Order: sequence, then structure tokens, then C-alpha cells
Amino acid sequence: MVMMDDPFDLLRPTTVTVRVSAKVNLALGVGSRAPDGFHPLATIFEAISIYDEVTLTRRDDSRITLTVSGEDADQVPTDETNLAWQAVDLIRNECAAEWGDRRHGVDIHVDKSIPVAGGMAGGSADAAGALVAAAALCRLPDSPEELQPLAARLGSDVPFCLTGGVALGRGRGDRLAPVICRGRHRWVFATSTRGLSTPAVYRRFDELGGSRAGEIVPNDLISALTRGDIDAVADSLSNDLQAAAIDLRPELEEVLTVGRQAGALTGLVSGSGPTCAFLVPDAASAKIVSAALSRLSQVDRTRIARGPAAGAQLLPGPVGS
Ligand code: C5P
Repeated sequence: MVMMDDPFDLLRPTTVTVRVSAKVNLALGVGSRAPDGFHPLATIFEAISIYDEVTLTRRDDSRITLTVSGEDADQVPTDETNLAWQAVDLIRNECAAEWGDRRHGVDIHVDKSIPVAGGMAGGSADAAGALVAAAALCRLPDSPEELQPLAARLGSDVPFCLTGGVALGRGRGDRLAPVICRGRHRWVFATSTRGLSTPAVYRRFDELGGSRAGEIVPNDLISALTRGDIDAVADSLSNDLQAAAIDLRPELEEVLTVGRQAGALTGLVSGSGPTCAFLVPDAASAKIVSAALSRLSQVDRTRIARGPAAGAQLLPGPVGS
């Protein structure tokens, strides 16, 4: 519905859909908890080919609504605690002039494939998608560079979800530098029947003695990625949060063992877990690893994916939208 009291409304789309990728941390070096409660990181993110789609449709009134479809839709909050909602609200407040005088609202719809509370940045990806979609709705520049400062205010992983690819993240994970990655990776992911809360995993990390090596930039991994040496990449994968995630969910140990025994080059907990990620050499072993993991009672689903994938991308809308 076009609002005729604002001539610029004629130039604005009314519905926009953005596709956003999940991520896996190839390395996650965690330093000691800082006074602000966050832990300094040196992490390598890789975007992978499991996608959510975020659609924003303008409303005539000022309300924001949120609906969710897809896997685990019932576990996703549909109120202002959802990061996609917060992203729309942030653009509306920070860019009021572009948004339009009537402060129109939007219907947000998230079609989910990324596991919920799985350590794969599902909520952050939706926030990144909503930022790009909201920027497109009001014709703001939607390049990752322009939206980066707003993304960092929403959550530590949101800036990476905008850019995708492979990147080194420092600070809270929000200060990004691209990493050259030759070749593509095949992954198998095993999601858990129960999610894990990121703050709870960081808390357990502190309780278990906190940082050992700290937020060291993983130069061996960066070099392996740049050379395209998959065996060296597998040897260099690491996650300082893994012990804390396994302490909270001891059954993950068996998941990692079974995936490795079935032929994965290596396996590790993805981010704060409980999803486990397995790097595999080829399509045949992806199927074998996936089948072995599916037989475990603590595994909810398995997913085969490729990386690196792109960041948040506007999808072409229907003509006239
Ligand atoms: O930034 P985000 O909302 O994803 O962080 C969720 C929680 O995870 C934070 O409130 C904090 O407890 C923890 N965290 C942390 N250090 C980071 C990132 C997150 O302690 N670098």
C-alpha cells in the first residue's frame, strides 16, 4: 500500500526479502572477561550455505509485527526481544528522516533454516537480514560498510553476518578483516535436541578457569586458508569455548567422536554450541558422516553445507514490489 502524502513513498519498495547465511567459527580464541562483561576474541568466521530469509513489508500504521516459519519456528521469540525486530527499530530511530515522517511500521517474516540457539549465529543472521531489508525499504545505502556500526550495536556476530565470506574478527568479534580463502569447504553439522545460551557458555568458560592462550590471532589457520590446504585447515581448527560447551552438555563428546570416526577430517563445537561442525573431504564422506551422526539420540538433525557463503543479500522481488 503506497502512502501518497509522502512523494518519496512512490520510489520505495513495499516488500523486501534478504537472504542471510549461518556461520561457523574455524578458530575461536577467547581472552579474559573484560570489565564490560565481554571477552576479547580473535576468531575466524566462515559463512556457510544454510540460510534464513527475512522479509519486511511496510504497514500503514506504526506497528511492528513478527512471524516465523521453518525449522524450530516455535522456539523463536516474536516480540521486541527478537534481534530482527530490534534491527528494524534501530533503523527507524536512527534514520528517521529516510524512514519517513509517518513512522510507518513493518511486518517482519523470518523463514528459518539456521538452527536456533545452535552457535551458528541464527539470531544475528536475522538481525543482519533485517538491517539490510530495512535499509532497502527506505532507500538507505545497504552496503555492509554503511550498516556496520548499527550491526555492532545489535550483537557481536551481526557485523560478520552482513559481510559473510571468511573474516578475522577481533574485539567482541565485531572488528573484521577479510581473510583470503582458496577453495571451498564441505561441512556436516549436527544440531542438538536442546539449545545452549551463549552467555551461559561464556560463564562456564570463566568458571572453568577462563582464558589460557587468550585472543591470539591464528596465523597457521589463516596461512592454511590462503594456501587452500584443507588438511592444514583441519589441523588448525580450534574453539576455546568447546570445553565449556561440553561441560554443560557432556553428550557432545560422543557426537564429536562419532563424526571423526565416520571419516570427518576433524570436528569441533560450533561457536558456543551445541551444534557440532565436521569438515569433510568430499561429498561421499559428507553422506557417511551425516548418516552416522543421525543415529545418535542426542542429535536432532544433520545438515550438509558448503562454505564460504556470501553475506546478507537482497533477493530480487516480484515486479512492482
Ligand atoms: O553480543 P551478543 O549479544 O551475541 O553476546 C551475548 C552474550 O555473550 C554477552 O552478553 C556476553 O555474556 C557473551 N559474550 C562475551 N564475549 C563476547 C561475545 C559475547 O562474553 N565477545
